[in-house]
Amino acid sequence: MTKSAASTQETVVGDAGRSAPPRQGLVIAVDGPAGSGKSSTARGVARALGLRYLDTGAMYRALTWWLLVHDIDTARDAAVVEQLRRPVLEVGTDPDSPIIRVDGADVSGPIRTREVSNAVSAVASIPQVREYLIAQQRDIIGRAVGAGDGIVAEGRDIGSVVAPDAPVKVFLTATEEVRAQRRTADLTADPAATPAITLREQARRDRRDAPQMARAADAVEINATSLRLDEVIGEIVGLARERRTGSAWTT
Ligand code: DC
Repeated sequence: MTKSAASTQETVVGDAGRSAPPRQGLVIAVDGPAGSGKSSTARGVARALGLRYLDTGAMYRALTWWLLVHDIDTARDAAVVEQLRRPVLEVGTDPDSPIIRVDGADVSGPIRTREVSNAVSAVASIPQVREYLIAQQRDIIGRAVGAGDGIVAEGRDIGSVVAPDAPVKVFLTATEEVRAQRRTADLTADPAATPAITLREQARRDRRDAPQMARAADAVEINATSLRLDEVIGEIVGLARERRTGSAWTT
């Protein structure tokens, strides 16, 4: 599989029908709370190992963005469920350029606003929303595995619900303060995003996200509070190489 083909997972087909046994791609699950560094870490691991990358949080965000733009009351579960299938979400899996489109429009910027961040937990807590998006996430992961590329998927429930058979599972943590500092740095364009406000909004999101946060019992916890990004990436790459010994998947 070439790198460019890996970036267009929507059109990749599996190895079914070939005479040689299919290669199996590695799945690495990276879960953890907001601001723990999941995205930079997961992308860095994907680059280091030549795997695809899936940001499942971006899917919940993209749906929420679409609902807000269409004035759907995100606090009303029935209204959200009714509209759920209308937006067409496209998710790219190239770690160097993880595009996310809704109805053909690039929404990678708009889905990161505070407005979306403050509304997304309620949308992600609706069981029908989860069922719908988890099916898509499993499909994307399944294609990556079937094509022999493998994938690093990040979220809240990857190792426990979305891909419970992933051979490498990581749960990334960091102190509340460090997580809020990272979030504030991400929101430099928003003058209202002071460290104090970010900390308060983060605490509220943590509470709302808690029911969706399903940490796998066999996940390796990495506390990233005082680790550099390259150190965290190095730990996960090391875990993946350890687990590779004697297994069928390739990196
Ligand atoms: O990781 P993030 O902040 O971009 O996630 C956005 C929201 O989606 C957050 O409220 C948690 C939720 N989420 C989820 O419920 N399950 C996932 N697998 C990923 C994200």
